[in-house]
Amino acid sequence: MIDAQSALAAPLVTRREDYQPPDWLVPDIALDFDLDPSSTRVTAILDVTRSSAHERPLRLDGDGQVPRKVLVDGVPHNDWRMDGDTLEIDLPGSAHRIETEVVIHPDRNTQLMGLYASGGNLCTQCEAEGFRRITFFPDRPDVLARYVVKMTADRKRFPVLLANGDPIASGDLDDGRHWAEWRDPFPKPSYLFALVAGDLSANRATFTTMSGREVQLGIWVRESDLPKTEHALSALRIAMAWDERVYGREYDLDVFNIVAVDDFNFGAMENKGLNIFNSRYILADPDTATDLDYDAIAAVVAHEYFHNWSGNRVTCRDWFQLSLKEGFTVFRDQGFSADQGSAAVKRIEDVRTLRAAQFPEDAGPLAHPIRPDSYMEISNFYTATIYNKGAEVIRMIATILGPDGFRAGTDLYFDRYDGTAATCDDFVRCMEFGGGVDLSQFRRWYSQAGTPRVSAVLDHDAGSGRATLRLAQRTPPTPGQPDKEPFVLPLKLKLFGTAGTALGAEQLYMLDRPTAEIVFDGVTDRPVLSINRGFSAPVIIESDRSSDDLKFLSAHDDDPFARYEAMQQLMLDTLVAAVTLGRADHQPVIEAVRRTLEDAALDRAFVAEAVLLPSDAFVGDQLETVDPEAVFRAREALRRDLGKTLADLWRSAYADASRAGAFVYSPPAKAARRMRSVALGYIAASGAEDAADVAFAQFEAADNMTDRQGALTTLVNGKSDKRIAALDIFYNRYSGDALVLDKWFQTQALSSRDDTPAVVAELARHPDFSLANPNRARSLVGAFGVNQRAFHLGDGAGYRFLADHLIALDKLNPQTAAKLLPPLGRWRRFDEKRAASMKVELERILATPGLSKDLFEQASRSLNG
Ligand code: BES
Ligand code: ZN
Repeated sequence: MIDAQSALAAPLVTRREDYQPPDWLVPDIALDFDLDPSSTRVTAILDVTRSSAHERPLRLDGDGQVPRKVLVDGVPHNDWRMDGDTLEIDLPGSAHRIETEVVIHPDRNTQLMGLYASGGNLCTQCEAEGFRRITFFPDRPDVLARYVVKMTADRKRFPVLLANGDPIASGDLDDGRHWAEWRDPFPKPSYLFALVAGDLSANRATFTTMSGREVQLGIWVRESDLPKTEHALSALRIAMAWDERVYGREYDLDVFNIVAVDDFNFGAMENKGLNIFNSRYILADPDTATDLDYDAIAAVVAHEYFHNWSGNRVTCRDWFQLSLKEGFTVFRDQGFSADQGSAAVKRIEDVRTLRAAQFPEDAGPLAHPIRPDSYMEISNFYTATIYNKGAEVIRMIATILGPDGFRAGTDLYFDRYDGTAATCDDFVRCMEFGGGVDLSQFRRWYSQAGTPRVSAVLDHDAGSGRATLRLAQRTPPTPGQPDKEPFVLPLKLKLFGTAGTALGAEQLYMLDRPTAEIVFDGVTDRPVLSINRGFSAPVIIESDRSSDDLKFLSAHDDDPFARYEAMQQLMLDTLVAAVTLGRADHQPVIEAVRRTLEDAALDRAFVAEAVLLPSDAFVGDQLETVDPEAVFRAREALRRDLGKTLADLWRSAYADASRAGAFVYSPPAKAARRMRSVALGYIAASGAEDAADVAFAQFEAADNMTDRQGALTTLVNGKSDKRIAALDIFYNRYSGDALVLDKWFQTQALSSRDDTPAVVAELARHPDFSLANPNRARSLVGAFGVNQRAFHLGDGAGYRFLADHLIALDKLNPQTAAKLLPPLGRWRRFDEKRAASMKVELERILATPGLSKDLFEQASRSLNG
């Protein structure tokens, strides 16, 4: 059970409908930090003003501290009390100056929330509710303050002192310490506060904004990592220019700093003028980072930069509005990435992520709307639903409004709400006004959870030349929402004739009722339906298209996403038949893959994605009850058949893709490397004698991490003993590089081999394994949990392993532990025996004394939801 003390101190559940504006505002705050890893003194001076005619006391959030002193209007004050973690002070007037002093202990902060130590440096993470672990403050996003921050620290250990905004003064003290003062002129919520003190070096550049102001950019890392910061710095400058061009948004301070730290709960954080990043989203060179890492770095740098407007200048009224900044900013970073390379491949990747992470969430016990109604622990709501479905909802709005209407809407939103804390509804209202549309019914996307299912049946009467498309939508119940109202679904559709030509132009059809019929006249040729083109709505399409029609679309559809989708559906139908009927005709898939490989007009980056089979997990999602072994066997059989039947094509694709010279990071070079890995995977799947030799040769000759890790993955999934040699070589080569060692752990945890559960258990005892570093914990425990075959192999040992590690991790870092729980919550999807073993582990977690609120919420919802 959750421990009695915290359960008593605060209500367990926070509800959206209970929102009340703040009683007290804090227009200004001055912070003074006397920094030391073991003991840091924090003095805060808050100018507080009563927000309306009420008589309630000032209440300041804390977390674990008691103030050493409290002054009101400069005078020591004893008339304060603690209500749990909250400091309560009765105040007579409507404006006062409150000073508090606390002492905190960064080196004991294993939660990595608030002020903590990482690799000898001190840094902060405040979103969502970490600022209260630093000082007493109304720690809610609708209290916006101007910050002045002074830091004093030992000059040798902490030569660099950074905070939000612009530096205003600094100096030396005669005891070996120094100080710096920073001021952020933009009022901001406390979750955007940051400071960093450390021994860091900067890769610097400048950026001249659209109105001609020069901004000093700096990416701060340990000195030896400086050569790995070029890519992030160049991505930052491209992102700054992109936001000016596409959204008209200009940067607003004289400096923009990014600091990379090794211990970080998330990917990165958008603190005003001082972004703090997990080093995995900054550091890259060809020898240590894959193409996917390079892409992710650019995307995350852009994402956090874009928050300067969507999140910082306009922030959230309360945490229920989280998707207002996160969904919108993901949509913005997706648009940015699409513009840097192949937009079609980017869309395929984004939809794959949605299906891998969000659809299962929406179909399980943790389902929630993109604007939730309640939470116990807000950090559990940084979910794929808020982020990725939130981005899809913005994308639908953009589709409905068209480019000009959407830009008018975002201009209005940024203009009207600049400097304020807004709501999702404020955003939607701006969109309605900007686009001249009514989004009343569309708003259901904000309040209803669950993935809509759309059935699409096309009838054709050759005699009359009439085709009729019958559409119906239904959304399955989700926890707390048994009945759903119809959504507004913008569906892009088009008909093709069997000769391969389009029968008319693409149309955008708004399905806003439970059922609809669309009639097409003058259709003499037998039509084939292309629907939800570009994945225009985040729904599941159920159509009765034959494998011939899907094969046809996979070769002829002129929307690249729809073409990919037809191939995926064909593969999915084949695999589901193999699992449920015990047999399937592989021939249509093989023919479709052959044609795609042979189509010289197609971008190789697209081909590499299109010929990949859907994942084990996605195939499992199509089944009534998941049988992980049956799915694995069916998928392996199809892979082997594809590998064997198309052996010559894979060999020549591999040879073509291997012709590149020395490493360059460019779209065609990336496409070649991707194709090379995919072809290698099929060569290995075919069972070819020399497959391990080919992989090992690629592994040894590689001049970049993409090829090296691609080869390693193939070896680690295979039977050859060469995998042992490769793993050793890899480990020894990179034993000093934590980010690459994460790949070493992760590649083994994701292996499809029978012995993966045993290997993972052994790796958990490896001297380089530690739960204290979130990246390392995720690379082993997190990866194992999403390896469908390995996690569910055997007698429940995988479930026990996960629960043991979550219980241990919860004591150090509850947020990271809670994030890794969802695989256990999927018990309803499996057979009775597996479900029972999974429930036993959830119950064991819940019975752990001193469990965090984070893990308690995730485990109890997973068990009962
Ligand atoms: N604001 C978040 C960081 C964050 C995440 C704070 C969770 C508190 C809890 C940041 O903007 C973010 O969204 N980061 C993502 C990466 C992004 C590219 C989607 C992350 O950290 O995973
Ligand atoms: Zn974000």
